[in-house]
Amino acid sequence: MSVMDLPKVELHLHHEGAAPPAFIRQLAFEKKVDLSRIIADDGSYAFENFVHFLQVYEAATSVLQSPEDFARLTRAILEQSAEQGVVYCESFLSPDFCGGGDVAAWREYLQAIQETALKAEADLGIILRGIVTPVRHFGPEQAKRTALCAAETAGDWIVGLGMGGDEGQGHQGDFAYAFDMAREAGLRLTTHAGEFGGPDSVWEAIRDLNVERIGHGVRAIEDSKLIEELVARQITLEVCPGSNVVLGLYPSLGEHPIARLRDAGVRVTVSTDDPPFFHTTMRREYDMLSQTFGWDESDFRALNQTAAEAAFCDTATKERVM
Ligand code: ADE
Ligand code: ZN
Repeated sequence: MSVMDLPKVELHLHHEGAAPPAFIRQLAFEKKVDLSRIIADDGSYAFENFVHFLQVYEAATSVLQSPEDFARLTRAILEQSAEQGVVYCESFLSPDFCGGGDVAAWREYLQAIQETALKAEADLGIILRGIVTPVRHFGPEQAKRTALCAAETAGDWIVGLGMGGDEGQGHQGDFAYAFDMAREAGLRLTTHAGEFGGPDSVWEAIRDLNVERIGHGVRAIEDSKLIEELVARQITLEVCPGSNVVLGLYPSLGEHPIARLRDAGVRVTVSTDDPPFFHTTMRREYDMLSQTFGWDESDFRALNQTAAEAAFCDTATKERVM
């Protein structure tokens, strides 16, 4: 069996970031929004660097306006992921993009997303769970409103809180209130750290937010004490190699630290982040990793076992994918 055909667990996927450009273009057409500056002639998203990527991301997201739009998006994403052999996926959902951070509006969006996901679970065999995501560059006050949305809807389906956005803005600890609120509501915690921020950002995430997973975390490789800490605490990294290469963190996959992190005993998993933005898919990530580092079926099975163990869903759901 090719490693690309293995059943896959994906822990780090942004809901809006997974939107196929053709789908966003169609919505823009229906809503008479001009997106010609962000979708290139060849139909792909166009951006120059990380901050520009975040701007393009938000411009594309602006055409997703109603619960029905998010229901259609959810179906498109799950068809795409199921085709890649993904059997379980956690996606980052932002109440800031679904109802402007208002709890009542968020509930309506969430209901539309969840209904679509449960239908896909039945007819495509893929399980989706949601992680509510504060957007870091919207600031700590907005993050509190987002965490309140998360706390109000925490349960079997909304399973975590995970901050994304511009890691260059402020400190992880500025968001401690939002993370504490989510933890008290029973949610599991992750945050983007060690992507565009260095090892200090990962230390802060562990110390100030007490997260059990880290989005990316790859720059931990620059600090051997931090590696020891990640291993000791059994923190799982949601590594997105293709994303890191396209966003210029590493010149090529050969220089990416995923294999060194794994060999040092860090719990690593593989995800796509925002697949159409980074011209990637889960199959492509697996293919590139096996070509570059010689990883074989047993390596990928171990990787998926780690991902299933680190998933935020309940044990009964985990048992269905392990
Ligand atoms: N939001 C969507 N993709 C992201 C990334 N790679 N880093 C931070 N925030 C994001
Ligand atoms: Zn991400």
